[in-house]
Amino acid sequence: MYNRHMERFKILKEIVLEAGEIVKKGYYSTLEFDKKSATELVTKYDKAVEDFLISKIKPLYSNYEIVAEESFLGKKLPKNAIYIDPIDGTTNFIHKIPYLGISIGIWEDYKPKEAIVYNPILDELYSAKLGEGAYLNGNKISVSKESNLQNSIIATGFPYVKHEMGKEYYWVVDSLKTLLPKIRDIRRLGAAAIDLCYLAEGKFNGFYEVNLQPWDVAASILIVKEAGGEISGIRGIEYNLENQIIVASNRKIHKQLLENLGDFDGE
Ligand code: IPD
Repeated sequence: MYNRHMERFKILKEIVLEAGEIVKKGYYSTLEFDKKSATELVTKYDKAVEDFLISKIKPLYSNYEIVAEESFLGKKLPKNAIYIDPIDGTTNFIHKIPYLGISIGIWEDYKPKEAIVYNPILDELYSAKLGEGAYLNGNKISVSKESNLQNSIIATGFPYVKHEMGKEYYWVVDSLKTLLPKIRDIRRLGAAAIDLCYLAEGKFNGFYEVNLQPWDVAASILIVKEAGGEISGIRGIEYNLENQIIVASNRKIHKQLLENLGDFDGE
């Protein structure tokens, strides 16, 4: 059983590398895009990469349901799921900013078991299996040892609904007002899956965001945990993929980070 699963994970990595070739083709060509909303964009490559991944991964993980960014219409998340974000960082993809990733998270019994996040432009492949550590291109990675929030680089992202100026917008702005003087600096690089991998690798010390979708984080959560990091919701509540806010850190600054993020109605 163990060997069969090792083999399956190896094949999964090969599939993701192949999907990376499709992403690269799009990245180095002139792109057209559609708008899903005022600020959320999509290209034919998001769909093509997703279709390719589903066709290859589904037979490999036949007892799992697919939850993928461009095709998931369900309301409830399945017990055993393959979370797919074909291009996390679509805006960067369109603007030719090489910070994006293909993200695949395998969840069993509502818990993360296997994860791959691949940036084909920089050729960086992050992976993790439950209980076996986290890796970048085959080399073990771990979170930073920084214990002082003031020396920390914190990554975040801004929700697509910002133009509506609703409660998410105010939470982002108010939290930033409090947090910014207490940290070394903020990074908003545009791909949550990669932000979390940079945290796992020790480049970032913390991360938070409101309104991420399950496919944005399902893989990276395991990579962060396996690298020794911590994931929670706001006020330290346990995080599940349905929470609106995610907070992640190297563990050592987690409490300080939480103390500087505002409360959010409903969480
Ligand atoms: C987006 C990126 C971005 C985050 C957005 C996500 P997408 O993913 O992760 O950093 O701020 O909330 O939706 O839409 O490019 O797959």
